[in-house]
Amino acid sequence: MNEELVIPNHIGIIMDGNGRWAQERGMIRTMGHKTAVGTLKKLCVHMADMGVKYASLYAFSTENFKRDIKEVDFLMNLFIESFKKEFTFLKEKKVRVVFSGRREPLPEKVLEAMDQIVEETKEYSDLVLNICLNYGSHAEIVDMTKKVCEMYQDGEISLDDINEEFIQKNMYQDLPPLDYVIRTSGELRLSNFMMYQASYAEFYFPDVYFPDFTPEEFDKAIEVFQKRNRRFGGIKNEVKSS
Ligand code: FPP
Repeated sequence: MNEELVIPNHIGIIMDGNGRWAQERGMIRTMGHKTAVGTLKKLCVHMADMGVKYASLYAFSTENFKRDIKEVDFLMNLFIESFKKEFTFLKEKKVRVVFSGRREPLPEKVLEAMDQIVEETKEYSDLVLNICLNYGSHAEIVDMTKKVCEMYQDGEISLDDINEEFIQKNMYQDLPPLDYVIRTSGELRLSNFMMYQASYAEFYFPDVYFPDFTPEEFDKAIEVFQKRNRRFGGIKNEVKSS
């Protein structure tokens, strides 16, 4: 790709359409999730090579626990297996993994695999991969509010300490705002994904299901991003994309 491209600093990806991808091929839904792991690996390597600094991936929402128990179990095992065996590219590409979401009620084995991958990659910083697992924006705001109230109650902070920077620092992860949110499968929703962080993000909704979201499809998304005129509430053409 052209070297003068503006690469979004922080990209959010809502990996949607795995179930439909499988069903349209006469397979069970879980095959879509399994195929998605391969897609995700290629995408992460591609983002690292391209110079993306932060990528947030919506892997499992707080609401996804309402799904059929067999699909939830399959996904939990897939996370364990992926973090233990599939994410070997992290070391080579110097990718650091962090997680956003509630630990409760994730199974102990999933938590162990998460903790292990965080520990193993904590020294890296070329690309930060924020995996949103048992994540919900509403839950994040509730949890952040409780944390801040406790600090206030314990006398650690005063009301004047609470500003936008402070709120960002006390979210699940202290990450820069999202520049670009991509949701595959053609659905036009945010579905409780990083609402606070996405306040000035650009959005892109390709028609492909996530398992088909190849590096080539990602490049198309980046091309579209070049044409966006980000104003952040200012005057047209005054503020350039970061
Ligand atoms: C949404 O598609 C996808 C999910 C709920 C699971 C996402 C999981 C992966 C991409 C697996 C790999 C992830 C990691 C971090 C190892 P859907 O099932 O809602 O699809 P549908 O809308 O077609 O039903």
